[in-house]
Amino acid sequence: MKFHLEKANPSSKARTGCIDTNNGSFETPAFMPVATRGTIRGLTAGQVREAGAGILLVNLFHLWLRPGEKIIREAGGISSFMGWNGPVLADSGGYQIYSLSGSVKIREEGAFFQSPYDGRKVFLSPEDVVSVGSGMGIDLIMVLDHLVSPDSPPDVLREARDRTLRWARRSLDVAPPDGALFGIVQGGCDTDARKWSAETLSFMTGREGQTFSGFGIGGLGIGESFEVRNRIVGETLDVLPREKPRYLMGIGYPEDLLAGIAQGVDLFDCVLPTRNGRNGMVFTSKGRLLIRNARFQEEDSPLDDGCSCAACKSYSRAYIHHLFRNGEMLGPILNTIHNLTYYLDLMQQSRIEIRQGTFNAWAQQKMDSLQQTER
Ligand code: GUN
Ligand code: ZN
Repeated sequence: MKFHLEKANPSSKARTGCIDTNNGSFETPAFMPVATRGTIRGLTAGQVREAGAGILLVNLFHLWLRPGEKIIREAGGISSFMGWNGPVLADSGGYQIYSLSGSVKIREEGAFFQSPYDGRKVFLSPEDVVSVGSGMGIDLIMVLDHLVSPDSPPDVLREARDRTLRWARRSLDVAPPDGALFGIVQGGCDTDARKWSAETLSFMTGREGQTFSGFGIGGLGIGESFEVRNRIVGETLDVLPREKPRYLMGIGYPEDLLAGIAQGVDLFDCVLPTRNGRNGMVFTSKGRLLIRNARFQEEDSPLDDGCSCAACKSYSRAYIHHLFRNGEMLGPILNTIHNLTYYLDLMQQSRIEIRQGTFNAWAQQKMDSLQQTER
């Protein structure tokens, strides 16, 4: 992997760049649609590409359990298995340590999970994540981290953060020289813990002199306020090396992406446009709406007037409302196409504004207009 930092906006910390991988290149800031099990539900890879995606996110933990590394390796890697002609980033299973915490046991050597598919006990170590990721042909691999709730007691937070660093070191030791491995900054909402974590990862080297190719900022989007998160992101980015990509994990609403870009974030992922889209939430340039609402029953206009996606080109709000009301599968599909297009257009426009040096004013105006409407 190679990251070319192209342009920093003179009046803000926002930046554009380009990441080259063996499976192709994409521009940053980038939003990665979430294909946890190797699919954006309901969409073909071609439709995802048409919506403007340059890179997808998959979950290594889920794909490792099913269908397993061997089937993906023998298919020629995850991109070719999915019919996706482009780069893929894999999250590790660190998030599942948090979300499945009731049935997870953490030991120094790794994590014991109960498989959500068949209940069998499985063990995943930091070294396993690197080797499974390489075997699956993943372009950007996130290390296995230990994520806990930010309002855990201080000793629990400290323990998780320190274990994440020890696991990061073990991951780096086994990182293949040509692979791209990202470290993950943890530390809850505490400034010093975050800075310590970011600094340690920045200077960390593996047995053969390997260093991280980029950095995730983890442990956010699980209850903290917009203000607290922005403070933590700013403090963390100040410490991380400028010349490597920074990925704000699991965030967020359109206004959260703009706030992250303004601070110098390069990569994002979030289930909102897809998961909420399937449930009827529509992101538009004038804010969010719920298409099931009876007021859309007779609206002949498209989901968003300014949008040129396949859903807005051919279908009305009234029609999509009708599809949802009848449980027709085309409803969630059209919403997913539209929402992804909205998110990916927002990133593209951000890149244009950064290059022109007009990002700050544009983003401020955008955030104001999103806040004026119902949330
Ligand atoms: N997704 C959102 N937050 C996190 C995190 O802290 N760690 C991992 N591995 N994935 C995430
Ligand atoms: Zn649209």
